[in-house]
Amino acid sequence: MEFTPANKDKFEAIVKRYPVRRSALLPALYIAQEQEGWLTTEAMEYVASLLDLSVAQVHDTATYYTMFRFGPQGKTLIEVCTTLSCWLAGSEALLGSTCSKLGIKEGGTSADGKFSVRRVECLAACGGAPAVQVNGEWLERATEADIDRLLAGEPVKRAFDWPKSPAESPAPILFRNVWKDRSTSIETYRAGGGYANLKKHLSMTPDEVVDTVKKSNLRGRGGAGFPTGLKWGFLPKDNPKPRYLCVNADESEPGTYKDRVIIEKDPHQLIEAVVVSSHGIRAKTAFIYIRGEFHEGFRTLEGALQEAYAAGYVGKDILGTGVDVEIVIHRGAGAYECGEETALIESLEGKRGQPRLKPPFPATHGVYGCPTIVNNVETLVCVPLILDRGADWFASYGVEKNGGPKLYSISGDVLRPGSYEAPSGKVTLRQLIYDYAGGMRNGRKLRAVVPGGSSTPVLTADEIDVGMDFDSLAKAGSMLGSAGTVVLDDSRSMVSLARNLTAFYKHESCGKCSPCREGTGWMLRLLERVEAGKGEEKDLTTLAQVCDSISGKTLCPFGDAAITPALSTMAKFREEYEYYIREKGSWQRLAPTFEEAKRRGPHTAHSSQSSQSEESPQSTVGTR
Ligand SMILES: Cc1cc2nc3c(=O)[nH]c(=O)nc-3n(C[C@H](O)[C@H](O)[C@H](O)COP(=O)(O)O)c2cc1C
Ligand code: SF4
Ligand code: FES
Repeated sequence: MEFTPANKDKFEAIVKRYPVRRSALLPALYIAQEQEGWLTTEAMEYVASLLDLSVAQVHDTATYYTMFRFGPQGKTLIEVCTTLSCWLAGSEALLGSTCSKLGIKEGGTSADGKFSVRRVECLAACGGAPAVQVNGEWLERATEADIDRLLAGEPVKRAFDWPKSPAESPAPILFRNVWKDRSTSIETYRAGGGYANLKKHLSMTPDEVVDTVKKSNLRGRGGAGFPTGLKWGFLPKDNPKPRYLCVNADESEPGTYKDRVIIEKDPHQLIEAVVVSSHGIRAKTAFIYIRGEFHEGFRTLEGALQEAYAAGYVGKDILGTGVDVEIVIHRGAGAYECGEETALIESLEGKRGQPRLKPPFPATHGVYGCPTIVNNVETLVCVPLILDRGADWFASYGVEKNGGPKLYSISGDVLRPGSYEAPSGKVTLRQLIYDYAGGMRNGRKLRAVVPGGSSTPVLTADEIDVGMDFDSLAKAGSMLGSAGTVVLDDSRSMVSLARNLTAFYKHESCGKCSPCREGTGWMLRLLERVEAGKGEEKDLTTLAQVCDSISGKTLCPFGDAAITPALSTMAKFREEYEYYIREKGSWQRLAPTFEEAKRRGPHTAHSSQSSQSEESPQSTVGTR
């Protein structure tokens, strides 16, 4: 096997973009898979020969990623997300019915070879739940009728219709272009003032850029809220090696779908931000690491990058300023862990996306062992704003120590899920749910909220009068994280919430350290048992012990994230766990009597519904 002449050219053009050839491994595997239909042994041998790697190295890397296939599959690949927001919207049932219509099991291919159906984890389409991808194209808010049309051979696509913020003022800043016609084109971006100040910003000295960002107190939007200027200041002054900027566009935290809006709707905003930020940190090359599932985002960004190169906004001697910045868009291939900065770097180097031990930190030892800064998409698009409008403006736009505009994604049991912009922290969780997202669906009451993405502790309905900023949520015992809010109404089981997210973490554990690799499996088994009404009292003690054996004992923060859904629901909704165990039932059977039993105290026997069916469509999780 070898590449077709066109694919050889494509590969040669790609390999030249990287300082180290192995970085072209994922792109080469994509080309091979597209050409052959799947990664045959011959294809992997061929790719190995192209990159001077052993077949074992290629196989080892390829098998880490969920988007590479090692056997034939149907012409149409239907991928159904079953993570929290999609699961709340009934995606388990949709996955099950799609498989039964085709007479296959999940992961299988129809007898005529036309369709394959797979379960996938959060696609960053949580507002468009249940989210499906069909050969990589969005089918959001998917219905049974959509699937029927699809199986009948009709092409069915539907991307999320991003709702505008209901707040009339202030006008959106980061989302200023999103609803414009042809919002992705360079003309539209320029007409809105885009690139107008690029020359001025590139004429500032890098130190001036860094100092202004420091003064603005911009805090990273990727999850930790770490001050960006301070991070940039960690780059060693005397290291002669090249410096790199890595843009974290891996957006995979369940509940979070905000970077996607910028990538798909306003890619030039990101490109300009990357150029200016690279200048600030003295990097001549920036990599945009975009998650593999962002097929549309990748195409959009590639198109915009070509336009930007042609217009002289990227490349050598940009606008005659003497500043050189090359941008390389690098696609991931399906792995949540690649959002962690050192795993992202490993993946960019053409390896399994598993984290490195820190220290050393990327600022000193990053991509190819060189000084590297990893920043989130939303963080970086704040940089040109800061330079345009001033550090003081940015710092005071929002609440104290949480400056700037902020993007909030909200999904789950609300009327108007969406990604909304507001001055950081000037919106409370209550306002986000009731004013921005239109309140609860189906006239139900609020039961719980995951405020900032799956790794953040749940809050109860009584805890939502809290500002949506890093410090206020930390004070309230949770975290802002990546600001991906998932709302659950009073019909929802907290045990099921924990089970669903634990299944996500078990699936996504990179397997490098045993507490996380083994512990997430143990947690899932225990939670499944409780959820199925087969739990015993000691299971809760065991669950807490397993969490304790993970907490603080893993190589990367994934471990602590993975135990958060179980620990926080056990802490805040303990009675529900105990009720499951005492009454030995599914949520479908227990829910109608739970509140009354809770009011009457812990020893109330459950009786009337005990003969009802144990089948609950919400309580089944497939094996992975
Ligand atoms: C398991 C895990 C997943 C992560 N996923 C993302 C992600 O999808 N996007 C992101 O920007 N940061 C993610 N992060 C945080 C990054 O490691 C890193 O802190 C961030 O990109 C830094 O950017 P910032 O300083 O601009 O926030 C993740 C961290 C962990 C531990
Ligand atoms: S904590 Fe989990 S994801 Fe992180 S290195 Fe260990 S196994 Fe991998
Ligand atoms: S896209 Fe399904 S949970 Fe995020």
